[in-house]
Amino acid sequence: MPARARAIAGFTRRFGQPPQGVAFAPGRVNLIGEHVDYNGGLVLPMPIAAGTWVAYGPGQAGVEALALDFGAAADAFEPGQPVPHRPADWRSYLRGMAAGLAARGLPVAPARLAIAGSIPRGSGLSSSASLCVALGRAFAALAGAEWTATDLALAAQAAEHQWAGVHCGVMDQMAVAAGEPGHALLLDCSNLASRTVALPKDWAVMIVQSGVRRGLVDGHYNARRADCEAAAAALGLPSLREASLSLVEAAGLDPMVRRRARHVVEEIDRTRQAVAAIEAADLPALGRILASSHVSLRDLFEVSVPPVDDLVGVLQRTIGDAGGARMTGGGFGGAVVAVLPAALVSQVQAAVLADYRAPDGAAIQIMIEQTGGQPAGEGQ
Ligand code: GLA
Repeated sequence: MPARARAIAGFTRRFGQPPQGVAFAPGRVNLIGEHVDYNGGLVLPMPIAAGTWVAYGPGQAGVEALALDFGAAADAFEPGQPVPHRPADWRSYLRGMAAGLAARGLPVAPARLAIAGSIPRGSGLSSSASLCVALGRAFAALAGAEWTATDLALAAQAAEHQWAGVHCGVMDQMAVAAGEPGHALLLDCSNLASRTVALPKDWAVMIVQSGVRRGLVDGHYNARRADCEAAAAALGLPSLREASLSLVEAAGLDPMVRRRARHVVEEIDRTRQAVAAIEAADLPALGRILASSHVSLRDLFEVSVPPVDDLVGVLQRTIGDAGGARMTGGGFGGAVVAVLPAALVSQVQAAVLADYRAPDGAAIQIMIEQTGGQPAGEGQ
């Protein structure tokens, strides 16, 4: 049963009446600008069709919730006094989102919720940001209010930091809360200024799961963030957004910290170049930029893993110079993103299924995202 229908059916079964409404938030795929958001950099994520649905209705006492993807596990708490749940799981995001909203002056009323989603977990497609923003939209609907995308995103980021222990940037939450389907969102993480970037309709965005599940809560992510902060501090800058390559190379940094900083400075520049390539409808140029982003994440930032490199290789060989592919998201497994001519989709899909094997032999999941912009050469 599709996730939306599961949320409605689960709500009705548990609470004995149909929900008042169903809130939705998508997942996101990051096209480029990886591990730069927490350095005040530029990122280019895009909302995807998969997401999280929250069937909601008014509650009596506290917040009562049901997670249909976790064996219909239940949670209940007083909206004004959520307490942390250990170890971190979906309840941490639910309670954290309630707390994050209240901290922004957007208090959560008693509610009944049933949650179901379609984003593979551990895939680097932001299932947790999607959950938080969908919950925020359900709470806003119950309050009869329209909370802004920025408020929802910042409350969701606070839930991640303070309740799940992941010191993430704000890219995922902003992409999920403010992105437009079929369009990328160019977001400046230093000030949250953003604009949509249309992808030509005759391009396709393909997401392929490597089959290696990754978790940001395992510490590697926070360690990379700490390396970047050490680099900025050693350069005497508030963040690596202010750094230049020559400054990084001349500063006598520890070699590992220097590699991290070089990735960040060059990746921010690649994001600018990628937007220019998209706006010039130059898919081969975008492909080259995606390829160098992958190499940098593998060799300088050291967040890729061999199965992901293999999968990127299969995609790059099949797409050739007509487009490109790279790892996407926090790394250490998860999904790979490819941008290619829509006309090549079935051929590339067939090649991936023939040539790539997930390490545990799991079936390979491929998602094709709609692009909503003008076809190349039209309406520019
Ligand atoms: C995760 C984090 C984001 C971002 C990416 C890497 O998705 O949640 O904030 O740092 O990793 O680009």
